[in-house]
Amino acid sequence: MYRTNTCGELTLVNAGQTVTLAGWLQKSRDLGGLTFIDLRDRYGITQLTFNMDVNAALCEQARKLGREFVLQITGTVCERSSKNLKMPTGEIEIDVTDLKVLNAANTPPFTIEDETDGGDELRMKYRYLDIRRNPVKEKLMLRHEMMKYTRSFMDAENFVEVETPVLIKSTPEGARDFIVPSRLNPGQFYALPQSPQTFKQLLMVAGMDRYFQMVKCFRDEDLRADRQPEFTQIDCEMSFVEREDILNLFENLVRHLFKKVKGVDIPTMMRMQYADAIRYYGCDKPDLRFDMKFVELKSATNDIVSGAGFGVFDNAELVLAINAKNAALYTRKQLDELTEWVKDPRRGMSGLIYARVEADGTVKSSVDKFYDQEKLQAWAKACDASAGDLILILCGGTDKTRKAMGDLRLEMGNRFELRDPNTYICLWVLDFPLLEWNEDDKRWYAMHHPFTSPVPEHLDMLNTNPGAVNANAYDMVINGVEVGGGSIRIHDRTLQSKLFEVLGFTADEAKEQFGFLLNAFEFGAPPHGGIAFGFDRLCSLFGGSESIRDYIAFPKNNSGRDVMIDAPGPVASKELDIVGIKLNNI
Ligand code: AMO
Repeated sequence: MYRTNTCGELTLVNAGQTVTLAGWLQKSRDLGGLTFIDLRDRYGITQLTFNMDVNAALCEQARKLGREFVLQITGTVCERSSKNLKMPTGEIEIDVTDLKVLNAANTPPFTIEDETDGGDELRMKYRYLDIRRNPVKEKLMLRHEMMKYTRSFMDAENFVEVETPVLIKSTPEGARDFIVPSRLNPGQFYALPQSPQTFKQLLMVAGMDRYFQMVKCFRDEDLRADRQPEFTQIDCEMSFVEREDILNLFENLVRHLFKKVKGVDIPTMMRMQYADAIRYYGCDKPDLRFDMKFVELKSATNDIVSGAGFGVFDNAELVLAINAKNAALYTRKQLDELTEWVKDPRRGMSGLIYARVEADGTVKSSVDKFYDQEKLQAWAKACDASAGDLILILCGGTDKTRKAMGDLRLEMGNRFELRDPNTYICLWVLDFPLLEWNEDDKRWYAMHHPFTSPVPEHLDMLNTNPGAVNANAYDMVINGVEVGGGSIRIHDRTLQSKLFEVLGFTADEAKEQFGFLLNAFEFGAPPHGGIAFGFDRLCSLFGGSESIRDYIAFPKNNSGRDVMIDAPGPVASKELDIVGIKLNNI
């Protein structure tokens, strides 16, 4: 037996017992007559003592051990003279009688401490050492808890976990596929699934009624903090349901997770129309932990800024303001810096206009010479601004201004620390457009995917005004993060064919790409719908960090590389020959 106990569980209750522990040497202190070693395993740290007067040879042996050596010790649990009440095992120590080195270790390239000296790249290269550190280990434990409670919730709700294939067929819609050559079918390729979308729909045709899967998905897209090339979804599908059934059930799943994992009660989730999200927050995933809702000083329906001789506003399609509460003390320097920030090519604004409400209620603006006090007061009123508030104004074309103002709003939220990671505001965004026009390709693309059903009352517009058709789709947004999305699906072959046609597929192309699904729809497809949550994103949100990488045991870096195993890498030309691939001097 390697151990009788773990390094995290012994207390005064165990005093006097003889125990055997195994673990890693966290650190040792040599005080001459006494040597202390902290022994660590997944469960905690236990202090070991070696006494020169009692057993000099053992003490000598202990002194020579290096960090991260793997040890097995036997000894007696004793009460410590100087206790550390911050640790569960801090009232005891083990008087070691036997010591065995199970394995030696090189000095680790960074300290295995909560605060390490290792940089990102180094820690990724030695990820197995990084995972020994508490903060990293705890994130993986959180992930495990999330997975456990998800599975038990889904099971209790009668969902069946079914595995779908990983080698599937490449489709042109969505993100770029990862492709895998087939040896048995030279010149042909599998694709790794971007999601099990069509399979879960086929499982509904198959009568499985309620399906879910904790499933790996693969997308060859540019990476960001919240995007990995391989990530995990809680993928779900249900038959004989309407949108409301799905919203209710999955709202409950997320509330269940918050309760179980974080002990947080989430109230009934808010709902917002996609059009309102764009109009008032400039994006389809608003962070509602703070206000700063957009105020339209000038729009297609409203205008309180034109005609004062200020050409910039006169010529703008949209003039938007946000009220940064209590920010009137922002200095000239800070405002200049903010102006540069909105002019950055990523935002692309030509400038920032501001108006501050002074302590006596007068409004001072950077465009005072065009606007008298009465007009400025009207701005303040529209923005619900009072003494001490700062109104920030952007203007220009509608889409660009909304997007830039959305970014500025988040930036102000950050600067004023209004985005508390321990506050959770959950929201459903509803009524997305079904399609979006791509000017480069001169064609419509599905905003979610081509299997999303239009809302029934817009069906007629598919021919006449496709851009105005709403989808029966929904996204769940928590603190500005899109954690999940789904829709009621098309289950009718004619409508699905029609949609492919609107998306620019010929009948033959649709048949070739999605014939298996169209066929299945002719064999009794039930009405169905579903959702998929980004599991890594949910975990990072629960853990309070921005990057999903921390919640993935072996993640890829921003260039899609696994620096630990050094992948991707070349393959021998023999391997390529077998699958019939010739490289052109790469
Ligand atoms: P969608 O493409 O919106 O929908 O994906 C669902 C959720 O998966 C997460 N996600 C990602 N997480 C990490 N890295 C990525 N690269 C990444 N891409 C997406 C997001 C997103 O909300 N089949 C549909 C779902 C359905 O209609 O049922 C789908 O995959 O949190």
